Amino acid sequence: MSAEYQVHGDVAVITLNNPPVNGLGYDTRKGITDGLERANADAAIKAIVITGAGKAFSGGADIKEFGTPKALQEPNLLSVILAVENSAKPVVAAMHTIAMGGGLELPLGCHYRIAAPGCKIALPEVKLGLIPGAGGTQRLPRALGVEPALNMIVSGEPVPSEMLAMVPGQKLFDKMAKSAETLLDEALALAREKADIRPLPLVRNLPAKHPQGDAYFQFARNMVKGMAKNFPAPAKCVDAVEAATKKKFDDGMVFEREIFINLMWTPECRALRHLFAAERAASKIPDVPEDTPKREIKSVAVIGAGTMGGGITMNFLNAGIPVKMLEMKQEALDRGIATIRKNYEAQVGKGKLKQDKYEQRMALLSTTLNYDDLKDADLVIEAVFEEMGVKEAVFKKLDEVMKPGAILASNTSTLDVNKIASFTKRPQDVVGLHFFSPANVMKLLEVVRGAKTAKDVLATVMSVAKTIKKTAVVSGVCDGFIGNRMIEQYSRQAGFLLEEGCTPAQVDKAIEKFGFAMGPFRMGDLAGNDIGWAIRKRRYQEKPGMKYSKTADLLCELGRFGQKTGAGWYDYKPGKRDAIPSQLVVDMVEKHRKEMGITPRKISDEEIVQRLVYSLVNEAAHILEEGIASRASDIDMVYLTGYGFPIHRGGPMQYADTVGLFNVAQSMKRFAQNPLDDAQFWQPAPLLARLVAEGKTFNG
Ligand code: NAI
Repeated sequence: MSAEYQVHGDVAVITLNNPPVNGLGYDTRKGITDGLERANADAAIKAIVITGAGKAFSGGADIKEFGTPKALQEPNLLSVILAVENSAKPVVAAMHTIAMGGGLELPLGCHYRIAAPGCKIALPEVKLGLIPGAGGTQRLPRALGVEPALNMIVSGEPVPSEMLAMVPGQKLFDKMAKSAETLLDEALALAREKADIRPLPLVRNLPAKHPQGDAYFQFARNMVKGMAKNFPAPAKCVDAVEAATKKKFDDGMVFEREIFINLMWTPECRALRHLFAAERAASKIPDVPEDTPKREIKSVAVIGAGTMGGGITMNFLNAGIPVKMLEMKQEALDRGIATIRKNYEAQVGKGKLKQDKYEQRMALLSTTLNYDDLKDADLVIEAVFEEMGVKEAVFKKLDEVMKPGAILASNTSTLDVNKIASFTKRPQDVVGLHFFSPANVMKLLEVVRGAKTAKDVLATVMSVAKTIKKTAVVSGVCDGFIGNRMIEQYSRQAGFLLEEGCTPAQVDKAIEKFGFAMGPFRMGDLAGNDIGWAIRKRRYQEKPGMKYSKTADLLCELGRFGQKTGAGWYDYKPGKRDAIPSQLVVDMVEKHRKEMGITPRKISDEEIVQRLVYSLVNEAAHILEEGIASRASDIDMVYLTGYGFPIHRGGPMQYADTVGLFNVAQSMKRFAQNPLDDAQFWQPAPLLARLVAEGKTFNG
C-alpha cells in the first residue's frame, strides 16, 4: 500500500508513501479512498488529515504509470478528489516540501489546507505540453485569485508557499505551519478546531472573478502568444482559467477535461513527454547497474587552457569543485584565465552572478606548467590540440604521473578514444568526455565509451555530468560519435541543395521555420567553415568515393571562414553578427553550377527540410543499429540539447516517428533517384527498413 492509515486520537491521518515524491499512482490513490472510507465509517474519528511521507507532500502523477492503463484505472485522480470533497468529515491537506500537479489539485479538493514554509507549489503540466487535468485550472483561480493562478498555470514554475500565503485575499492556505517538523501537529490541531463546523467549505463554491475580465484575458492571450511560440498549451491555460471565471464549476471541469485530452494527442505534447522520458532514460546505461560503485571526484585537472579547456573548467568551478589547469606556456595559462574572468565578469555585469560567488569560484582555480602537480586529481580532462601525436604525448605523461584510480578523459571531437586509451597502461580508466562549445553553456555532454572503459568509470562520469548540470548521453567509439557523425550528412545535404538551386539564405530560412535555432550556413559561419574543410580534406583521402558538393571548399579557398574572418556564407559588418546575404557567394555558387553543367531548379521548403532532417534520421538509424547509441531517445537528446533541434518536434527520431517511418523511407527512396544527390546514402538504413516492414517506430 502506498498510503498509510493511522489514528491520532480522534483524527485519522492518511500518509502518502510512494517514494521518491509520493506520485499519485494507482496504489496511492486507492490508499487515499480506502482511508477516507475507513475514517468515515469509524464513529471515533472526527476529521482526517492527508500528508506525505519523506521528501514531499506529492509531486503529482506517478511517472512510472505514464502512458499505461494504470494511470487511468479507477479511482483516477478526479474520482479521488471527488471522494475527498464528498467526505462527510473534514479533510485537511498538510503540505510540505513539494506539492505539484496532482499533488496540488488533491489539496485543492480538501476542505482545509495547511502548508509548511518552503513548500514548492506548482501546476507544472504546461511543461509537458498539457494543462492541469484534475481541476487545477478551475480551483486554483478560486483559491488564489485569477491573476496569480494564471501566472502559475501558464509558467508551470514552482512558488514557495510562504509567498503564496501573502497574496491578498488568498484562500489557498487556511494556515501556515511554523515548520515542516511541526506541520503534522499543527494539522491535527486545525482538524480538531474545524471538526464540527458545517457545512464543509469547498473551493469549488468560491467565486473566480477578475475586475477587468475580458481586457485582462485579452492581455494574457497576447503575452502568452509571444512566449509560447510553437506550443499550444499555454494559450489553452488562458482559455481554461477564463472558463473558471465564466462557466459554472462543473461546466468548467468538463471544459478543462476536453482541452486536456485534446492536448494529450498533439505532437507538441508528445514531444515534451518524450523529452521528459528521454532525459531520464539517457542517464541509464543498459549494462551498467544503477548501484555500480562510483569513484569519488573531489578535484579535477584540465590539460589545455584554450577555448574548450576554459569552458570545461568553468563547469567544475560553478559546481564548487577545484580545478588545476595545465598548459605548455605561462602565456597560454594567462590567456585562459583572462577568458574565464571575462566570462564571469560578463555574468556579474548582467546581475546573473554575485561578486562574492565569482571570487569563490576563481579561488577554486589554480594553474601549473608541471604534470607532477596534477597527480592527486581524481579526474583529468584533456583539451589540447586535435592531433593524435599531441594526445599521445599527453596521455603517456598522464599515465606516468596520475594516481591509481584517477579517471583520464579526453575531449576529442573526432579521434579514436580506443587508440588514445592504448597510449596508457590503464585503458579501463580512459573515457571520452565530449563537451560542446561554449562548454560552460551547452547542456550536452557525449560520454564516449571506449572498448575497455570500466563500468565504474562510466557510472562515475554520468554522475559527474549531473553535478555539473549536463545532459550526458553515452556514445560508442566511431568517427564523430553520435552528434557530429549525423551532422556531417546534414552538411553534405546542405551542399547538394546549393548546387541544385538554393541560396544559403533559402536553406537556412526553411529549416529555421521548421524550428531549428540556426540553419546550416549560419551555423557554419558561427563555428568556422575551416573546421568542416579540414574534416572534408581528411574524408577525401579516407573515402575517395564519397560524393560532396565543392561549394564549401570554394568558399574556404576564398578565405571566407565565417564570422571570425568577417565573411563566410554571409557578409558581416565589422563587430556585428547579423548575417547579410552575399551576392558574391550567390555568384560563386552559380559559376560552380555552370561549370558542373547543372541547370538550377526551384526547390521547395518542404524538400529542403525533408532532405536535411531525414539525412540525420538515416545516419542515426545506422548509429543505432551499430550500437553506437543504445536507444533512439538518446539520439533525440543529443540533437535537442546540442544541435538546436526544435524542442516541439521532439528530436529527429521522434519527428520521424510522428511523420511515420513508412513516409520517411518513401521520401528517402525518392531522393535516391536524384542524380545530383547521393543515391547510396539514401538507401533506407537496414534498421529503418525493418521497422517500416514491421510497422514499428524508433521510440517504441
Ligand atoms: P584550442 O586551440 O582553443 O586550445 C587548445 C589548447 O591546448 C591551447 O591553449 C594549447 O596551448 C594547449 N595545448 C596544446 N598542446 C598542449 C600540450 N601538449 N600540453 C598542454 N597544453 C597543450 O582548441 P579547442 O578548440 O579548445 O579544442 C581542444 C580540444 O577540444 C580538441 O581536441 C578539439 O577537437 C576538442 N573540441 C573542440 C570543440 C570546439 O568547438 N572548439 C568542441 C568539442 C571538442
